[in-house]
Amino acid sequence: MTSLNKLNKIDKRFFIKTYGCQMNSHDSGLIESGLLKNGFYKADSVADAGIVILNTCSVRDHADHKILSELGRLKKNGPDKKVVLAGCFAKQIKLKMESEKHKTETGLFFDYCFGPDEIMSIPDMLKYENRYVKESYNDDYKDVGLIEEYFSDKKLENGAAAVKITEGCNNFCSYCIVPYVRGEERSIPFEIIYNTVKKQVSKGVQEILLLGQNVNSYLSPEGGKKDFCFLLNALSDIPGITKIKFLTSHPKDFNDGLIETVCGNGKISKEIHLPVQAGSDKILSAMNRGYNRKDYLKLIEKLRNGLSDISISTDIIVGFPGETEEDFQMTVSLMGEVKFNFIFGFKYSPRPFTKAFEIVDDISLEVKKERLERVFQKQKEILCS
Ligand code: 5AD
Ligand code: SF4
Repeated sequence: MTSLNKLNKIDKRFFIKTYGCQMNSHDSGLIESGLLKNGFYKADSVADAGIVILNTCSVRDHADHKILSELGRLKKNGPDKKVVLAGCFAKQIKLKMESEKHKTETGLFFDYCFGPDEIMSIPDMLKYENRYVKESYNDDYKDVGLIEEYFSDKKLENGAAAVKITEGCNNFCSYCIVPYVRGEERSIPFEIIYNTVKKQVSKGVQEILLLGQNVNSYLSPEGGKKDFCFLLNALSDIPGITKIKFLTSHPKDFNDGLIETVCGNGKISKEIHLPVQAGSDKILSAMNRGYNRKDYLKLIEKLRNGLSDISISTDIIVGFPGETEEDFQMTVSLMGEVKFNFIFGFKYSPRPFTKAFEIVDDISLEVKKERLERVFQKQKEILCS
């Protein structure tokens, strides 16, 4: 750990390495704007930086391994740099340190550790080198909505801007660490999202990507009926907006009202990401997904009936504990029925704190690899047919 003496001579050039999903890229944008506003400078590479921020993911164990390797490299090649561990893996480390059951001596090399809910403290923490400032700052910015307002200078990608609308998740899918590391679901107040999008439009943005672990359950916190459909319609009415995308949808919350909105509003993107995870009811139930195969297929049918040019992508996990060859075949046959336009496939990996972590991970790595290969092969056949 770095001593305060070392922090006094702070090299203000920073470099952020982002791991994982769109949500993390968005959070890195927030960290970056926070640091730029506070007198720090962007470095061109890790080698040029005095501060290296690893904004981490923790969804699968593969992500953990990447970060551990990076920390090892930094320890070897940049022992004088200040290393800031941020995001989901950082939170996992903190939770492990606090937990009796998962306590591990991490022995990791880093100077600071900020969970996803604490990233707004990074500039002050680095600037004032004072834990007290960090804590009071956190209190001021506890509400994610305020964070959005404060750091509304987002980076733009291809003219599109990402706007976070919810943080955290309450669904507790049995394999998923997200509710533990990102905390309970909070929706950002409607007014703040609306004003953020209007600001973006005034800077020339035409396309918006709305982000949340489960955007479908958005509900503005002030009470009333400002739900996801309301938000989509209100944002699409802003003059200058041409397209609205969103990530990620949960099938259990994709209700008829939302289907109608998506199908009836020409500004809403017709590319829908709808993670199914598995095709067998036994596995879906063990995953605590809140829908069965029939529900999912019905939802797809409704969407396709409403929009012939819809493009549907999905996430699939193979090798969840107890997944028999028969269960796996149900996933493959579901792929055949839906004919997804794109799939993301993953081998199940046990994550600490989750319910599935308690179940024996009884599918061998070989079988997981082989099943994943068959999933990709099936997808190739579907796209070629
Ligand atoms: N093992 C494998 N894949 C996982 N995902 C989430 N948790 C796990 C896990 N423990 C996948 C899901 C999710 C995507 C973001 O990552 O498919 O939709
Ligand atoms: Fe994880 Fe399930 Fe929440 Fe998605 S909906 S973030 S898979 S717990």
